[in-house]
Amino acid sequence: MCGIIGYIGNDNALDKILYGLKRLEYRGYDSAGISIIDDKKLIRYRSRGRIEDLIEKIKDKKINGTLGIGHTRWATHGKPTDENAHPHIDCSGKISIVHNGIIENYFELKEKLKKKHKFSSETDTEVFAHLIEDFIKEGLENAVKKSILKIKGMYALVIISSDEPDKIVAARQGSPLVIGIGESEVFVSSDIPSFLKYTKKAIFLEDGDIAIIKKDKIRIFNNNKEVKRQIRNIKWTEKQAQKGGFPHFMLKEIMEEPQAFEDTLMGKFDERYGNIKFENIDIMKLKSIENIRIIACGTSYHAAYVAKYLFEKWTGINTQIEIGSEIRYANPVLGEKTLIIIISQSGETIDTIEAFKNIKNNAYYSIAIVNVVGSTLSRMLHGVIYTHAGPEIGVAATKTFISQLAVLYLLALCIAKLKNKINIKDIKNSLRILRKIPSLIKQILSNRRQIEKIAEKYYNHKDFLYYGRNINYPIALEGALKLKEISYIHAEGYPAGEMKHGPIALVDEKVPNVFIAPQNSLYEKVINNIEEIKARNGIIIALTNRSNNEMEKKANDIIYIPDIEEDFYPLLAIIPLQLLAYYIGVKKGIDVDKPRNLAKSVTVE
Ligand code: G6P
Repeated sequence: MCGIIGYIGNDNALDKILYGLKRLEYRGYDSAGISIIDDKKLIRYRSRGRIEDLIEKIKDKKINGTLGIGHTRWATHGKPTDENAHPHIDCSGKISIVHNGIIENYFELKEKLKKKHKFSSETDTEVFAHLIEDFIKEGLENAVKKSILKIKGMYALVIISSDEPDKIVAARQGSPLVIGIGESEVFVSSDIPSFLKYTKKAIFLEDGDIAIIKKDKIRIFNNNKEVKRQIRNIKWTEKQAQKGGFPHFMLKEIMEEPQAFEDTLMGKFDERYGNIKFENIDIMKLKSIENIRIIACGTSYHAAYVAKYLFEKWTGINTQIEIGSEIRYANPVLGEKTLIIIISQSGETIDTIEAFKNIKNNAYYSIAIVNVVGSTLSRMLHGVIYTHAGPEIGVAATKTFISQLAVLYLLALCIAKLKNKINIKDIKNSLRILRKIPSLIKQILSNRRQIEKIAEKYYNHKDFLYYGRNINYPIALEGALKLKEISYIHAEGYPAGEMKHGPIALVDEKVPNVFIAPQNSLYEKVINNIEEIKARNGIIIALTNRSNNEMEKKANDIIYIPDIEEDFYPLLAIIPLQLLAYYIGVKKGIDVDKPRNLAKSVTVE
């Protein structure tokens, strides 16, 4: 979390840094700040609150200079105040730094440094500015290299000094940093959208890298040796990273789901012949796997949960799913020939990364499913499958979830085919269904006004319960998570069959119960659960097939979903639940793109 950006070039650094910060605001938004070197003097402004508050504070100032850094914070050490906002400076006021991550040994360093240096914040970050000051006589580059040796933890650090206004020094360990290379200008940032408007050429720094960035030259060192890093061409467009007329990124991104689904699958299958292919994956390895473990956090974990049902049903392979922050401390016993799948939108979630490190040596083969090209996880596993959802700016994951599912459905089919668990007719049929999903999602989206009306009816309720059975259970979890995240309403997802083992105690006339109730093999059982709640005066909101005409008698509100084969239902059912959460959040006046306390890319443990 936290967004950091540095700029060096010929243009006004402030403009480019503020632009970049707005694009990074999804990473944290409790305070923000900038440092610019203007005429060899370091100027710094910081403000608690949003980037708009910072802009308000500096709007009448004349700030020139072509070198600077900026930061948007998600507080870890110290409250979101002006004093704790980044950038931090040393005592001379010449060195300025921004940081993402946590310096774990900051306390003992601070105790030592306090004897000589005056601290002005409660942050872990400030120690690094003072550390550099102790070595600055050796020049900024050496001072950073020496200071890095003293700190422990995770960091992305970007540093400037008014005595050396021709360079930025950047260092990465565990937290992402990407360099954007323009014409006589260079950006260094936590994420690509911050410079996408100016360049699509990027270098992703690796752990241990220290970069010395001048406007026409970049040198990267690792372990004191100069190293070469690949320059990648980013395919995302600037337009994708803007709201494009929508009131919120979240709504725009939900509306983009048909396209995201299609783009993710593009070129990966041919339904005429039942062929499926993934670049960068060793198909022969997949043929011989005997177990599957999937690791993820948050929404990505719910995608993993859907996949568990699919993999076990379609391929017959034992599939276990794990939450990153839990499995990383366990000693999991992997079965024979285990395929590890890691799912992460950002590719930077620290718990997921560490969990993988914990077991990677025992993996027979490993595949990352990530959205951000070049991100840490995209480079750590044997193979990678990118979800081509485009940049997702809204903090709550929406279109990336559907893209993750697209990959997982295809992967399940691919493995089933390799294992001879499915005949060619059924493969072709499944691929045909996947092909028509985008148009079915569009039908649901075109009905969004109805979901908005349901939101208007219930947005004042304090608790929601979501239920699903079998493959729709993870969708109940995800629906509840979405509501929690962006409306601050307490919501829980349950397997519908578990209702009578606890949640039913909460049922009264005030709690909406959202049922995913397709007319499938388990329909009767779900209807029984609905009846049990109705008998206790509970409110029922049901998602069911368009052809179902008995639900009207049972539910207070119904969201109709186009008819679809049972196993594919999650691909449609999640859409109205995302919309319901969105409209409830908006009705409550919440900034749904930046809900309180959350961050999109969670790089702290
Ligand atoms: C955060 C985000 C969620 C996301 C989770 C996992 O909590 O707010 O939307 O699902 O991290 O992120 P990842 O990038 O690994 O999918």
